[in-house]
Parts: sequence; structure tokens; C-alpha cells
Amino acid sequence: MKVTIFGAGSMGSGIAQIASTQNLEVVLIDRSQQPLEKSRSNLNRIVNRLVEKNKIDQALADQIEKQISYSQNIEQAKGSDLVLEAIVEDLNIKQTLFKELEGIVSKDCILASNTSSLSIASIASVLQYKERFLGLHFFNPAPLMPLVEVIGAVTTSPECLNYGFELMQNWKKVPVYAKDTPGFIVNKVARPFYGEALRIYDEGIADFKTIDMAMKTVGGFRMGPFELMDFIGNDINYKVTETVFKAFYNDARYKPSFTQKRLAEAGLLGRKTGRGYYDYSLDQTEETTPDKQLLETIFMRIISMLVNEAYDTLFWNIATKEHIELAMRKGVNYPKGLFAWAKEIGVQNIVDQLEQLYSKYQEERYRISPLLKEDVKA
Ligand SMILES: NC(=O)c1ccc[n+]([C@@H]2O[C@H](COP(=O)([O-])OP(=O)(O)OC[C@H]3O[C@@H](n4cnc5c(N)ncnc54)[C@H](O)[C@@H]3O)[C@@H](O)[C@H]2O)c1
Repeated sequence: MKVTIFGAGSMGSGIAQIASTQNLEVVLIDRSQQPLEKSRSNLNRIVNRLVEKNKIDQALADQIEKQISYSQNIEQAKGSDLVLEAIVEDLNIKQTLFKELEGIVSKDCILASNTSSLSIASIASVLQYKERFLGLHFFNPAPLMPLVEVIGAVTTSPECLNYGFELMQNWKKVPVYAKDTPGFIVNKVARPFYGEALRIYDEGIADFKTIDMAMKTVGGFRMGPFELMDFIGNDINYKVTETVFKAFYNDARYKPSFTQKRLAEAGLLGRKTGRGYYDYSLDQTEETTPDKQLLETIFMRIISMLVNEAYDTLFWNIATKEHIELAMRKGVNYPKGLFAWAKEIGVQNIVDQLEQLYSKYQEERYRISPLLKEDVKA
């Protein structure tokens, strides 16, 4: 099987590594030489480290490197069974690439995009054979994060969708089906983790460190919301929130925060610039002992919003309950699925929390998903 990947950035390089681990013929194409060279040397460093740690043997390391060829020439996609695109997030540029590709690959070649925020339908719209186009949305870093959201456009054939799902299983990933709606599953359901944390900060209820501590100590999350936003980059994280907000016709639930917008505008992007919510030139180990009750309150507010979002996602049939659970655990490392959490905390307690927030603020943001209310009665 021949797989061509477009874009030798972080995602394309990671996906190339996954495909070459399966001993497939892989071509990695980028419009510039520099990312291709960087990708090749990064891969060499990665496989050497995996061998040192005894995670893979030397033979597999050699195979992974040998199976990938690097090119700037789109014609090298000829004869591919699958083309996966992970280039810049721009509809026009993606459409131009796929239009050109249709003149190079056969009409049976499966075409896929790794887009995070564009609709699959809009990219597919320029194709002559639209039924073979789907979304395969990997998570960063792709070789380590098991989840792949498999997204069909309204024009995708059921065979193409099944093929994508089974292929991801063969590649030892965890595929889930998601509807072609903004943010798919993960980037929609995860919004309150950041948004409600920012809201709590903006209201002056607690500082960044306390909110992070609440989610880590009470919730068992590996990183708190502010640590995670600094890790992802405030520019990128803000952009995702803004895109989801606009794409859902300005639904108050996804309203971005000025605090994050200003950080992004100021270039305080997080770890990559040395400062975001935290200043990474300073010692971060300073001890604080926030009141336990406050930590519980913060956790309950954020987790209730997350659970509500998961129920809303199920309500709109964006994915099944099982796939929503898998998505949050395998795509963003949540310690538990949100429906499992609701059960543990008690659906009634979640509803009580949301009703309190709604009655206090009278904002659409806190409206309860009809499905959550139904679950209380069940
Ligand atoms: N970074 C993430 O966390 C993440 C996660 C999931 C999905 N995605 C999506 O994956 C895609 C790539 O993201 P990334 O973070 O790897 O980007 P990146 O900026 O690291 O890499 C993009 C690469 O594409 C190349 N490129 C641009 N236009 C091209 C063209 N016409 N032909 C060939 N190469 C071209 C660029 O030279 C660059 O090397 C985007 O659609 C993004 O939304 C990103």
C-alpha cells in the first residue's frame, strides 16, 4: 500500500511515522525543503531514542526510516492508495491541493484531511469524485495519542467511511466516528475545560494556580487548564475557541475570554515564548495552600460544564456515547470519560450545579442539555 502525506509539519511528520511503522510505502511531500529536512532529522532522533529505551528494535527503526521518502514534487503522489493532507489550515490552499491531486491519483484513491476546524464538506466540494473524501483527524503528537476522529462529509460514501475506520484500527489507532460539525468531538467537548476556567479567573474567584490545582488534585487531570493552554499556545487555543464560537453561530457557551485574547495579542503565547499565564523564567515551585472547599467548588463548576457539553454532543448525534467517552480519554488524556464522571458525581448533582449557575447569571451559557435532564429522571 502506498500512502502519501502532504505537509511535513508536526502532524504530517507524526502521521508518516505511524504509516511507516506499518511497513507501508510512505511519501512525505511539503512545498518547502526546510520542513522536509527537519522532519527527516527529527524522525532519526525519535527512532534512536525508541531503540535506546527498548521500545522498538533496530530492525523496526531502520524500517521506519527506510519506508519514508521525502519530496517537494506533488507528482510523487501518483499510484497512491491513500493521500492524507496535513498542510496549513486554510480552505483555499487545501482545496487547490486536492483539485490538483485529482489529476495525479486514480479515482479510487482515498483522499483525507487532518483539518481541525474546516468542514470536510467544504474541502470535498471542489472534487470531481467527492465520495472518496473523508476527515481523519489525528491528535498531537500523532504517534503517541491513540485517537483518530473519522469524519464523513455529506458527500462521503459509507464504504469510504468504513475503510477509514478499519484502516485506523489496522494502524493500531483508536478510531471514533464524528459528524462533520464544528470541532468534531474533542475540540467541542473540551471547550469548557478552558472557557469555564477562564471565566472563574475573570470573575476573580481564583488565580491560575489555584484553578490548575483544583483540576489536578480533585479531578486527576494531568495538567490544569492554564498549564495546558500555555503548553498548546494561547494563539492556537484562542483561535480554536473563536472558530468554534463563530461556527456555532455565536453560541454563548463557547464565548472566548478577553484574558486569553490579550495574552495572544501581547505575544505571551505560553511555553514557546517563555511566558503565558505563567512566567517560565521564574521558579514555579512556590507552595500555596488554597482552601479545600474552594478547590472542590472550582472542580465541580468546570466538570459540570464539561459533562453538559458531552451530553449536548450526544443530543445532537455528533457521536455515540461510547465514542465520546473514548475520544476524551484517548485524544486529550482525560482520566475518565465524562458520562462515567457524571455517574460517579451523580447526574442530579451536575444538574443542581448548572441550575445554580443559570439562576445566578441568567446566561445562555449555562443552559442544561435536554438529555442531561432526561437522565436525571431515568
Ligand atoms: N498541531 C496540532 O495540534 C494539530 C492537531 C490536529 C490537526 N491539526 C491540523 O493538521 C494540519 C497541519 O497542522 P501542523 O500543526 O502540523 O502544521 P505545521 O505548520 O506544523 O505544518 C504544515 C506544513 O505544511 C506545509 N505546507 C503548507 N502548504 C502546503 C502545500 N500546499 N503543499 C505542501 N505542503 C504545504 C508547510 O510548509 C508546513 O511544513 C492543519 O490542518 C491543522 O489544523 C493540527
